[in-house]
Amino acid sequence: MASAKQGHLNGAYYGPPVPPPQSYHSVGSRSSCGPCSLLCTLFKFIISIVIIVGIVALVLWLVFRPHEVKVYVGTASLAQFAFSSNSSNLQYNLSMDMSIRNPNKRISIYYDYVEARALYDGSRFAFDVLPTFYQGHKNTTVLYPAFQGTQLLLGDSVATTYSREKEEGFYYVHVKLYTRLRLKVWVLKIHYNKQKVDCSLKLPVPGSSAKFEGTKCDVDLF
Ligand SMILES: *[C@@H]1O[C@H](CO)[C@@H](O)[C@H](O)[C@H]1NC(C)=O
Ligand SMILES: *[C@@H]1O[C@H](CO)[C@@H](O)[C@H](O)[C@H]1NC(C)=O
Ligand SMILES: *[C@@H]1O[C@H](CO)[C@@H](O)[C@H](O)[C@H]1NC(C)=O
Repeated sequence: MASAKQGHLNGAYYGPPVPPPQSYHSVGSRSSCGPCSLLCTLFKFIISIVIIVGIVALVLWLVFRPHEVKVYVGTASLAQFAFSSNSSNLQYNLSMDMSIRNPNKRISIYYDYVEARALYDGSRFAFDVLPTFYQGHKNTTVLYPAFQGTQLLLGDSVATTYSREKEEGFYYVHVKLYTRLRLKVWVLKIHYNKQKVDCSLKLPVPGSSAKFEGTKCDVDLF
């Protein structure tokens, strides 16, 4: 009896505090269930979509990530390079072989337009439009840019650069490629216009016994 009374008393004692949390809980969840939970669900949905799209993009990038094309000038011959400071004319005859390697496993490249330009002391003195070609996966193509003719060069420093380099035994000529490309991934073709290749060639003065050393070019493709 005593314990039953005590229990009853205890129940009566602890009774009152119990209902408020219950009613608070049920009231609270009911009131937040309306417009807010709809917004929350929508928000979570959008977040999930963003995350999924991000993961898909990352996977595609890792699978198809394009590697930079590699360009190398193996041999170059400067048969003539004569600048007259009287007439500001440069007479030139320069030829080379330039290999272009596509290191990608899944990307093949259409070279729809390829133009080589030759620059001396910052001024372009010649250009050569090269044949278009298609390059498969992991394939190497050799181009033969050649420049010969006479060009007026009016830069202020050309004469001094020319006489200094003639003394030193090497002319520094830049050969740059400007291209219009299409990248092919499976059946997708992507047009690509920006490719820039810059080969900084250290060419022995014609008639000297020095040898041209093979030169890697800077490529800014992707
Ligand atoms: C240019 O040089 C090459 C050798 O590299 C020679 O065969 C060719 O005849 C030269 N061209 C001219 C116009 O001198
Ligand atoms: C440049 O012109 C001067 C006279 O104006 C002449 O004496 C000289 O031989 C010329 N040099 C060349 C490389 O033609
Ligand atoms: C490179 O391409 C040429 C011509 O398309 C082909 O004959 C050659 O087998 C290819 N080489 C490689 C290594 O795929």
